[in-house]
Amino acid sequence: MTTELPFDDYRASHLGKGGEYHDKFSRFAYTSVIWDLEQRQMLDLVAAQFADPGSTRHMDFACGTGRILALLEPAVGNSTGVDISDSMLAVAGERAMKARLICTDLTRSQELAGEQFDLITSFRLFPNAEPQLREEVMAQLSRRLAPGGRLIFNNHKRCGSLAFRWRSFLTRIGLKRKKKPLHCMSDEEAVKLAARHGLELVTERHLGVLPILRPKRPLLPKAFMRWVEAWAATKPGLARHAAFKIYVFQLAAAAD
Ligand SMILES: C[S@@+](CC[C@H](N)C(=O)[O-])C[C@H]1O[C@@H](n2cnc3c(N)ncnc32)[C@H](O)[C@@H]1O
Repeated sequence: MTTELPFDDYRASHLGKGGEYHDKFSRFAYTSVIWDLEQRQMLDLVAAQFADPGSTRHMDFACGTGRILALLEPAVGNSTGVDISDSMLAVAGERAMKARLICTDLTRSQELAGEQFDLITSFRLFPNAEPQLREEVMAQLSRRLAPGGRLIFNNHKRCGSLAFRWRSFLTRIGLKRKKKPLHCMSDEEAVKLAARHGLELVTERHLGVLPILRPKRPLLPKAFMRWVEAWAATKPGLARHAAFKIYVFQLAAAAD
């Protein structure tokens, strides 16, 4: 699916940002409902994917303010957070107390070149990144994934979701002003991107079936949204309507 990209250079997107970005996951009603459920899904996935999660070497790429690092820190053996933005990392340092934090662009530096990780995560990066950056990042992450390891990344702008279709329709008929480009990433794009770098899909989770157009100020009560989204997340038949996915990949079995 071709959509307009919101950034020309995603590498520069969060330079100088930090606290305000972090706070939106607790401040905004719908955003916080999704983040609460996402945390549960992540803990379940990590527990299910590793026989001994407590011994895993974890790297969170584009870790930003450390949401995923802080969540997984108690569950994994050790954590490394990598981001290009020192202001985002400054916030991460206050939350992920045990993680090693590295300010670098892994696609352009030799940092961590000799290291491998059992678990690599990357949240809210791929859908926004321009195609070239997606490829460069995926190349580096797949190279650093240990045999038997898992790459878990999310898609927070999923094409085909009720929210995206509703937003597109209202924009087309002129009832919604287009403040930002309408932009999405399909499941197929995510799976093909990973496959080009030798990775295969193991499992996935979905979230966010309500067509909420203003996550900051939704019209529905928070308790209702929480109930619906928690219920919908357990129904595989609703996955095609979801605005959020979490994908789990592993190195594809070597061809004979
Ligand atoms: C939307 S934030 C996501 C932060 C965090 N993963 C989360 O889910 O809250 C995207 C992050 O990607 C980082 N980023 C973009 N390009 C990068 C690159 N080439 N190397 C490292 N970090 C990068 C940005 O600095 C920003 O912190």
